[in-house]
Amino acid sequence: MRSALLQVLVLAAVAYAVPSPRGAYVLHEKRAAEPRGWEARRLDADKVLPVRIGLKQQNMDQLQDVLVSVSHPSSESYGKHWTPQQVADFFAPSTESIDSVKEWLASNGFSADRIRVSPSKGWIEVNATVAEAEDLLNTEYHIYSHPSGHEQIGCESYSVPKHIQEHVDLIKPTVHFNHRVASFPSGLNKRKNPDLGSPWSLNGPKTLDQKVTIETNATNCDQFITPDCLRALYNIDDPPAYPQDGNSYGIVEFTPQAYVDTDLDKFFKNFSSSQIGQRPKLVSIDGGFVQTANRSFDFNGESNLDLEYAMALVGNQPVTLLQAGDLPMGASFDNWLDAVDASFCSFEGGDDPNQDGIYPDNVPGGYNGTESCGIVAPPHVVSISYSQDEYTVTPAYANRQCTEYGKLGLLGTTVLYSSGDYGVAGYGGSCLKGGQPDANGTQFSPAFPVSCPYVTAVGATQINPGSTTDDPESACEQVIYSGGGFSNIFGIPDYQSDAVAGYLKNSPPPYTAENYNNSGVVRAYPDLSANGANYVVAIEGGFNLVFGTSASSPVVGSIITLVNDARLSIGKGPVGFINPAIYSSDFSWVFNDITTGGNQGCGTPGFNATEGWDPVTGLGTPDYPSLLTAFLMLP
Ligand SMILES: *[C@@H]1O[C@H](CO)[C@@H](O)[C@H](O)[C@H]1NC(C)=O
Ligand SMILES: *[C@@H]1O[C@H](CO)[C@@H](O)[C@H](O)[C@H]1NC(C)=O
Ligand SMILES: *[C@@H]1O[C@H](CO)[C@@H](O)[C@H](O)[C@H]1NC(C)=O
Ligand SMILES: *[C@@H]1O[C@H](CO)[C@@H](O)[C@H](O)[C@H]1NC(C)=O
Ligand SMILES: *[C@@H]1O[C@H](CO)[C@@H](O)[C@H](O)[C@H]1NC(C)=O
Ligand SMILES: *[C@@H]1O[C@H](CO)[C@@H](O)[C@H](O)[C@H]1NC(C)=O
Ligand SMILES: *[C@@H]1O[C@H](CO)[C@@H](O)[C@H](O)[C@H]1NC(C)=O
Ligand SMILES: *[C@@H]1O[C@H](CO)[C@@H](O)[C@H](O)[C@H]1NC(C)=O
Repeated sequence: MRSALLQVLVLAAVAYAVPSPRGAYVLHEKRAAEPRGWEARRLDADKVLPVRIGLKQQNMDQLQDVLVSVSHPSSESYGKHWTPQQVADFFAPSTESIDSVKEWLASNGFSADRIRVSPSKGWIEVNATVAEAEDLLNTEYHIYSHPSGHEQIGCESYSVPKHIQEHVDLIKPTVHFNHRVASFPSGLNKRKNPDLGSPWSLNGPKTLDQKVTIETNATNCDQFITPDCLRALYNIDDPPAYPQDGNSYGIVEFTPQAYVDTDLDKFFKNFSSSQIGQRPKLVSIDGGFVQTANRSFDFNGESNLDLEYAMALVGNQPVTLLQAGDLPMGASFDNWLDAVDASFCSFEGGDDPNQDGIYPDNVPGGYNGTESCGIVAPPHVVSISYSQDEYTVTPAYANRQCTEYGKLGLLGTTVLYSSGDYGVAGYGGSCLKGGQPDANGTQFSPAFPVSCPYVTAVGATQINPGSTTDDPESACEQVIYSGGGFSNIFGIPDYQSDAVAGYLKNSPPPYTAENYNNSGVVRAYPDLSANGANYVVAIEGGFNLVFGTSASSPVVGSIITLVNDARLSIGKGPVGFINPAIYSSDFSWVFNDITTGGNQGCGTPGFNATEGWDPVTGLGTPDYPSLLTAFLMLP
């Protein structure tokens, strides 16, 4: 394989040896937001950078259509998911793109033996000195140091020749600043306003540091949510004793976040005793492991919450833990995507050294194996309770990752992201002014990847104090506020345009374009919601109350997993990307519409939950038997 590739490159050297004149340059990408708290100095001209050029993929303009064709109830090919090979072939960059970029590199003095095309054809890699890269991209490279000891390499913007632009999505390492999802969740109001670019960009659940000492029961679900409360709320069946072999449910966690064995058993002892001793199936991505060196809510809160509830709700259905990143480096959303889809890996041996964990990691305690690329088939359902502020990513980076979620949908995977815990505000309650973070900003700050139209965004609800599981829920307004709003990057997908237009027409929010993009032509979220308040979670050897959309996403994931089990048992396939279905008229009766509460933030009351879809609770919470019936009726 390798030698065949080299031969092609040698031939290419002959074809492109004649340098073409340097064309006019155009700005290709500019940093989304300036990093704060980092010190920059020029990078030595002779340092070598692993430059990776992400080529424009073919047929991207058809992604939405082909995805809808396998996921819209009225489509003839509903459920006819693609094979990984079909996906790779359909979207692989064109020969013209590959040749044009190679020619550009050759004309800049890179000999053919220095240029390599990735096996998926998605990326071209070349090792360039800083001087060469600066010349190639018309930019200046800096090394950025953070007081935490982390360092990053990057530039503020870069350009490419005009005739090359249409062939290139993005180039790394350049403007994309630290998107590793490493380290600590927020805990209880710790890290109120983390600096952009700090290594801590995770949106964790919140806890009231209040030990649960009284006995939980079916009548106090307004104060203590347990698996039985959720079953009562959404009419969820007991999990099947003998789940279908082919079914799978994945939970993504980022090291050092880790679950604790004894806490799982403590939880099971009270709420699902037959599961004592049961553990998730660990898939280690880039050295990911269940670390035990550090134990506290900050290190275990997210993992314990996600796994205790996912495992209790699906019972004997094995849950796969996609644990990403080692201790020193951590990982980004791209790293778990690499692990389930080899065609996404930017190159054997690594992604962007700035924003993705790059393995092998040669620091002490680092993972020294090769990067995890296509090591596990994507589970039918994946729930991820992590996010970052959308303003921290460039549109090119966001789009490249987002299209990957679309491809997972084509393969038949449901990807669920929690919508965030700060209402219309960003992480820690931060807001924007003119698109940039600002202490007094009143512009709402949406989250990513949850704003990608190819994931299913899950918001949070609550049982109102004094109410029961039979009463209507409200948007969550205890400790956290359901993340929701309108993207500043993604256009509106067809499947939700009627729902969003209906909301803007019937309940026009009293805000202007200064607060959010109110044009009606941008992606809005969440898509649906589930309870996110007062979860009883075994943690640090006791029970604590935990709040967050972090709880809501694994619950919806469990419900979809049960639906998939039922479909598999009658010879049908998994539901895959659910958004076109759940917004369609076939599903208009399967959700409990949430019409009270809001998602305040940025010094405003935020949006209101209203009749029909709203940017607080989406379509509402699922009624399991109805959702099941609707999905069983589909082929
Ligand atoms: C770039 O350099 C690294 C480290 O020396 C090497 O492993 C890799 O193969 C090189 N890549 C190319 C495209 O030459
Ligand atoms: C867990 O079970 C024990 C023993 O039955 C009980 O005393 C305790 O209150 C329960 N805890 C919760 C949070 O339900
Ligand atoms: C449930 O717990 C509450 C305390 O939160 C208690 O007042 C009530 O009597 C309990 N109900 C039952 C049926 O045990
Ligand atoms: C985590 O554990 C390591 C090893 O015991 C220790 O050095 C480090 O300070 C701990 N980190 C935190 C934040 O507690
Ligand atoms: C990789 O790391 C493992 C465990 O830390 C160690 O035993 C092994 O010797 C290392 N291998 C190399 C090639 O450094
Ligand atoms: C924010 O507003 C406060 C009070 O009006 C003012 O003192 C402060 O300078 C403002 N901060 C910024 C960054 O504009
Ligand atoms: C929410 O509802 C209240 C009461 O009806 C109304 O005054 C307010 O304008 C609404 N806010 C939004 C964002 O729609
Ligand atoms: C809203 O989004 C649309 C579509 O991306 C864009 O054309 C428009 O400029 C945006 N409006 C504002 C105020 O940013």
